[in-house]
Amino acid sequence: MSVQDLRIEFPTRDRSQTVKAVDGVDFEVLRGETLGIIGESGSGKTTLGRALVSLVKPVSGRVLHGGTDLAILRGRELRRVRADYQIVFQDPNAALNPRMTILDSIIEPAEILGHGNDASRRRDGLDMLAQVGLALEVAGRYPHELSGGQKQRVNIARVLTVRPKVIVCDEVVAALDVSIRGSILNLFADLQRSFDLTYVFITHDISVVSHISDRIGVTYLGKLMELGPAEDVIDRPLHPYSQALLSAEPLPLPSNLRPTRRIILQGEIPSPLAPPSGCRFRTRCPIAEAKCAEEVPQWRQVRNGHWAACHFAREDGHSATGANCNDQKGGSNEDAE
Ligand SMILES: Nc1ncnc2c1ncn2[C@@H]1O[C@H](COP(=O)(O)OP(=O)(O)O)[C@@H](O)[C@H]1O
Ligand code: SF4
Ligand SMILES: [Mg+2]
Repeated sequence: MSVQDLRIEFPTRDRSQTVKAVDGVDFEVLRGETLGIIGESGSGKTTLGRALVSLVKPVSGRVLHGGTDLAILRGRELRRVRADYQIVFQDPNAALNPRMTILDSIIEPAEILGHGNDASRRRDGLDMLAQVGLALEVAGRYPHELSGGQKQRVNIARVLTVRPKVIVCDEVVAALDVSIRGSILNLFADLQRSFDLTYVFITHDISVVSHISDRIGVTYLGKLMELGPAEDVIDRPLHPYSQALLSAEPLPLPSNLRPTRRIILQGEIPSPLAPPSGCRFRTRCPIAEAKCAEEVPQWRQVRNGHWAACHFAREDGHSATGANCNDQKGGSNEDAE
């Protein structure tokens, strides 16, 4: 998938203002990868995920699916291509009809798309049930008879029946008990190999994103701040926002890769109704300078395959390592550990 200068806006309830939920992002989703998207609540992750599967229309820019702009497709052709791009939501109940049996829910998308016949769909549905680690007797149950983790497995089986190429996973383990998150993430990894899947894994949880991603993108107020190979983003983040996010988390990393200093972000995330001028992270950035209020930083490839939007990000990471925070801001944003 190729996302090109994508912008998505929503009117406020009284229609007097516009929320720029996604405000000009450019990136590619590579075949077979898991692209993790991380950012605080309200940074536009869900809207971006919905746009990737054509559930929301951009005001400008576009998403190409295998080189095709879905906006120009109609009817059967549109349904066929859209089926390749599926989404699983945070709420395990979101896609399950409480009055339908689990098997009926699982086969519903294939039925709508007219795949196979009734018997073949049921066979495939039962096979998918097994693929996601559920017993066959679950088939006849109703959603309220299942745990959150089991329902999320059903949701995965449901999207698999249409054999998608890409699955957008929006906070898929956030509503689940911590003790079962690992097993669901492992299931996603197993299914990726079995079904040759590409994932866009959206989460606010750094431990989830570092566990599963090949590449990581970092969003802030509707924009991408950084995108690169997962290890590189975690080990040597280029953007001050990523540095702060990563330094705040007890990551399951070897000690030589763990951030040594915690950067505490000052202040609240600004309103998306009125994002700061220039760099929208500048009101919380420990190394902001006058230029940051005047010029929007360019989205540029700073290292090989590693992109960032910061005036001072350089290949060696020097000007954005937080090393000069003390010099410029009296160290109020840093908490030595
Ligand atoms: N359907 C909608 N109508 C109005 N505003 C919306 C809608 N969906 C999202 N927003 C707004 O867009 C911004 C981004 O939201 P969202 O994409 O849900 O972010 P995230 O998933 O990162 O929390 C928020 O300010 C949110 O209130
Ligand atoms: S452009 Fe300026 S404000 Fe934005 S992240 Fe870089 S240093 Fe901070
Ligand atoms: Mg969200």
